[in-house]
Amino acid sequence: MASTISCPISKWIPAPSSKERLDYIQLVNLDLSRFDDLEGRQELARDFYKAFTEEGFLTLSGHGISEEVWAQQMDLAYTTMTLPPEEKALYEVTPEEDKQGIYAGFKEAGGKGFHREIDFYNMLLNGSKERIHPPHLNPYMEETRKVMLHVRDDIQRKLLILLAMCLEMPEEELLATHKPGLSSSEYYRYMSYSPLSEEATIKSRGLFMPGHADWGTFSILFSQPVCALQVLDKTGVFKWVEYIPNVMIVNIGQCLELLTGGLFRATIHRVVTPPQDQKKELRVGIFYFSRPNDDLLIEPLRNSPVLRRLGFDKPLDPNITYTATGFLEAKKNGYLKPDFDFDRPRDAKLHSDPFREGDSFSVLAKPLVAVPGIS
Ligand SMILES: [Fe+2]
Repeated sequence: MASTISCPISKWIPAPSSKERLDYIQLVNLDLSRFDDLEGRQELARDFYKAFTEEGFLTLSGHGISEEVWAQQMDLAYTTMTLPPEEKALYEVTPEEDKQGIYAGFKEAGGKGFHREIDFYNMLLNGSKERIHPPHLNPYMEETRKVMLHVRDDIQRKLLILLAMCLEMPEEELLATHKPGLSSSEYYRYMSYSPLSEEATIKSRGLFMPGHADWGTFSILFSQPVCALQVLDKTGVFKWVEYIPNVMIVNIGQCLELLTGGLFRATIHRVVTPPQDQKKELRVGIFYFSRPNDDLLIEPLRNSPVLRRLGFDKPLDPNITYTATGFLEAKKNGYLKPDFDFDRPRDAKLHSDPFREGDSFSVLAKPLVAVPGIS
């Protein structure tokens, strides 16, 4: 086993919670420890349905990741994200890999579509075993891999079974759309947001990441003490997501929205500069982004009586149906990218929007599925 002395791990210290009175969104919580009980599972399916047809976000407890493992992952994420730039550069995704759609390693410094202050390190679940990680991660890769697989094969699997219950589909049929090993793009991510300079804050309207919908099936994130995530609620108002230690936050992406004909919503959300008392904090996060099988057609699931009964069995985009791989490629070029930061209007003389650089599709002016308050 490699020594940890030469590559020490830094301790991540959570930032103190914000004392500001923020307008928090009320999210449904699923306690997954109730999953194995038949009655509990049925209640979870009802809550799942409510959360994903209304706010599009929920929290998860009882997920099976202990506080110790959670803390160790946060230490690893913190150490990874605070490496000096010259060390990060050694593990950056190369332009060739990027062209092939391989989404692994650090992002290119100051890469297209992001602030310089946003950085992340992606680990593909089904990537090449040969890929080299920064040395401090090596002694912990076995544990980290266990966490990645737990999120995919336990947490995501349970979410898919709840989805099958909501759609009245055989669970095996739904699980077959997300077979372990058949997605080349699902990944686990360490991420950080360093404070934006005054100038960058003004230029970007205080948006670290403008309003957007995620791309895949589920986005699962470890909750973060630095408040910055805002969700567009069902009345068309951006609300903050509150920090609750050791819960996970889950939202659905556009693949699942398209697979359910819009019954489940890929809710718009964004990352803004934190409240005044957390403005100088480094925001470190851990994410898992789930994806369907590469060759799955992203259209309403055919064998759901619920989608048929409720009229959600028509494609949301009648002009084109992509496979998961094709869809993600189109997303890279701006397909179905919304523009909803209407509460922070853009002044061409003051503001810029690096997020939309190089898009070849036009911007979505409305959500794919109608939201009261936005039309
Ligand atoms: Fe997102």
